[in-house]
Amino acid sequence: MALPPILQNLRIPVVGSPLFIISNPDLVIAQCKAGIVGSFPALNAREKDGEPIMLEAWLKRITEELDRHNQANPDNPAAPFAVNQIVHRSNTRLERDLEICHKWKVPIWITSLGARVEVNEAAHDCGGITLHDIINNTFAKKAIEKGADGLIAVAAGAGGHAGAQSPFALVSEIREWFDGPLLLSGAIANGRSILAAQAMGADLAYIGSPFIATNEANAVPDYKDMIARHGAEDIVYSSLFTGVWGNYLKPSIARAGMDPDNLPQSDPSTMNFGQDREKPKSWKEIWGSGQGIGAIKKVQPAADLIDALAAQYADAKNEMRGIVNG
Ligand SMILES: Cc1cc2nc3c(=O)[nH]c(=O)nc-3n(C[C@H](O)[C@H](O)[C@H](O)COP(=O)(O)O)c2cc1C
Repeated sequence: MALPPILQNLRIPVVGSPLFIISNPDLVIAQCKAGIVGSFPALNAREKDGEPIMLEAWLKRITEELDRHNQANPDNPAAPFAVNQIVHRSNTRLERDLEICHKWKVPIWITSLGARVEVNEAAHDCGGITLHDIINNTFAKKAIEKGADGLIAVAAGAGGHAGAQSPFALVSEIREWFDGPLLLSGAIANGRSILAAQAMGADLAYIGSPFIATNEANAVPDYKDMIARHGAEDIVYSSLFTGVWGNYLKPSIARAGMDPDNLPQSDPSTMNFGQDREKPKSWKEIWGSGQGIGAIKKVQPAADLIDALAAQYADAKNEMRGIVNG
């Protein structure tokens, strides 16, 4: 099935994925102007009681700045942006955030940690599409039953709350019954891997951790440097820090005084994904990352990273032509 028009005509088939705390309007605008979908979690627009609504301010800025770019560059328009909603019962802001996104006609809605009919309806009602992230085929079927337009397969090795399945297995099982938009995530960090995701049966690559090491990302310099200096061996899969299994940088765990190779498991009933989610003080500097960061060698502007991905993707396609024709 053809991709919905909103996902066609990207410079390269990539969505910059939402990153808790880290994604901000600067990063999203840079991603979209450079030709890939940029996104942020709605909860990153943090607010205190009595303050103006930050989410609204962010959406206004992103919409207006991309509009200005499109008027000035009609031959090179920006890619659309996406907002991520955490659909977990602990997210007490969900209903209000949906209303704001509806008002601003957000074009792409990414939903995580729960599939809900009313979220999909709100997106469709303002002309948007929804992409739901899943870690197995059962959740994928549920998401489509509840009205999602597309799926994000979060395979092993992804940053944040990663799945445990091989991308080959996950994409193959989904493609047996689903021919709609399918994104793949998990350690995709160069142009060749983007092409590999397409060869496997996905339409688009969903890339997170590499964008932590960009100038625009809202992360401390140490975190960005750690991404640029480490690789897959330095990542550990643990449920300790949020109650859900995810991938983390071992050096950040060691610095907090724990042994990253001997971590206990945690109690999932303590999960909290509301805007007031707080980590124990000693965990503040436990940093999430996928396994793909070996490809990232330096901290740079997001546009330079996207230029590099685009050049590598073009090279990979040329190389593959030899194999396909050979
Ligand atoms: C530090 C960090 C924070 C994340 N926060 C979120 C989030 O708030 N919402 C979400 O849907 N996914 C979140 N993710 C997952 C990413 O959107 C995406 O699935 C993942 O980064 C893809 O794998 P990669 O990092 O190997 O590219 C996060 C990932 C990382 C590394």
